[in-house]
Amino acid sequence: MKRNILITGGAGFIGSHVVRLFVGKYPDCRIVNLDRLTYAGNLANLRDVENRPNYTFVKGDICDYDAMRSLFAEYDIDGVIHLAAESHVDRSIRDPFTFAWTNVMGTLTLLQAAREHWNGTWEGRRFHHISTDEVYGALPFDGTLFTEQTRYDPHSPYSASKASSDHFVRAFHDTYGFPAVVTNCSNNYGPYQFPEKLIPLFINNIRHEKPLPVYGRGENIRDWLYVEDHARAIDTIFHRGRDGETYNIGGFNEWRNIDLIRVIIRTVDRLLGRPEGASEKLITYVTDRAGHDLRYAIDSRKLKEELGWEPSLQFEEGIEKTVRWYLANQEWMDDITSGEYERYYQEMYTGR
Ligand code: NAD
Ligand code: DAU
Repeated sequence: MKRNILITGGAGFIGSHVVRLFVGKYPDCRIVNLDRLTYAGNLANLRDVENRPNYTFVKGDICDYDAMRSLFAEYDIDGVIHLAAESHVDRSIRDPFTFAWTNVMGTLTLLQAAREHWNGTWEGRRFHHISTDEVYGALPFDGTLFTEQTRYDPHSPYSASKASSDHFVRAFHDTYGFPAVVTNCSNNYGPYQFPEKLIPLFINNIRHEKPLPVYGRGENIRDWLYVEDHARAIDTIFHRGRDGETYNIGGFNEWRNIDLIRVIIRTVDRLLGRPEGASEKLITYVTDRAGHDLRYAIDSRKLKEELGWEPSLQFEEGIEKTVRWYLANQEWMDDITSGEYERYYQEMYTGR
């Protein structure tokens, strides 16, 4: 059992769910959440755990080598779950440098700090790197799935930076015997997701009767997984996965964007007491995302067969929970859709 676990990016969407799970499930472990609090980091995501005795928040940058070395020493970190990253594909198209810096150099910095602190004693230590299915590129509409053997073929600056970070993690394992594991997950959805991503953006826009910007013809396919199922998978692999291995995580739950958008519209309209389909008129087809990957779909059989994990939530239930959460937490949404995000949104979707 690891005693002092560092979770990077714990104030973000997925990270906050991982922090919540670990703080509650492992009261005898110290959970250190290291986050720079970029536009995507939000301590309001963790209000319910912030006063727990086994939880510590540290504001810091994974690219700051001296700070990371001090952090490992101060808390005698023996396990790392590394989620901190720039995570939004559209932003990476506009600003690739930030993605290379944070995702590649930040990961390398953290690896070096861990290697130095652990100093060749790998027993009882683990570095779990959280990555994405986007590193595998795009699939045709033919039913094939990404497996752990699929060749890396990233297309966006985001996925190229994540692919590079994955390679550094494996290089540390292969070169130094460093105790690392990599997981590649499909699209997550659920509470606390920053509303630049499809599902929270569209729920909020439907509520406010704003246009729903569908890229291209809305035919691209994504494989959606409820975020708490991802957090459970991370817990399983962090504790029981094998060093040097990769595990794919996914929901076997493919949706064409336009079909998913119609489910969201129906759900929001119903919960707001609007006539069925009232918000269909908000669908607005816009210029496609540059280099938009056609289809992602994960084969997560290895994880199921080796470690017994599988998704717990049916998609219909997950979407219902998610929409209800955003509608009930309008204040959370309002706090982050003002200020800097408002400027980003205006530029992104209205060109002004
Ligand atoms: P997010 O953007 O919601 O959160 C990222 C967090 O990292 C934020 O709290 C931010 O403040 C922090 N951060 C950014 N730069 C930092 C730095 N230099 N130092 C310290 N903290 C920094 O992202 P997310 O959607 O929760 O994704 C988390 C991880 O999971 C990422 O590595 C992402 O690539 C991966 N992932 C995401 C999905 C998904 O669907 N969202 C799917 C698969 C994998
Ligand atoms: O597959 C895992 C990845 O999923 C993660 O690694 C990324 O961090 C995460 O952001 C997500 O990437 P996507 O690009 O798939 O997610 P996004 O929510 O941005 O878009 C989902 C789909 O919806 C995609 O095909 C683009 C489309 N889209 C998105 C937005 C924001 C639209 O049509 N309109 C939009 O306004």
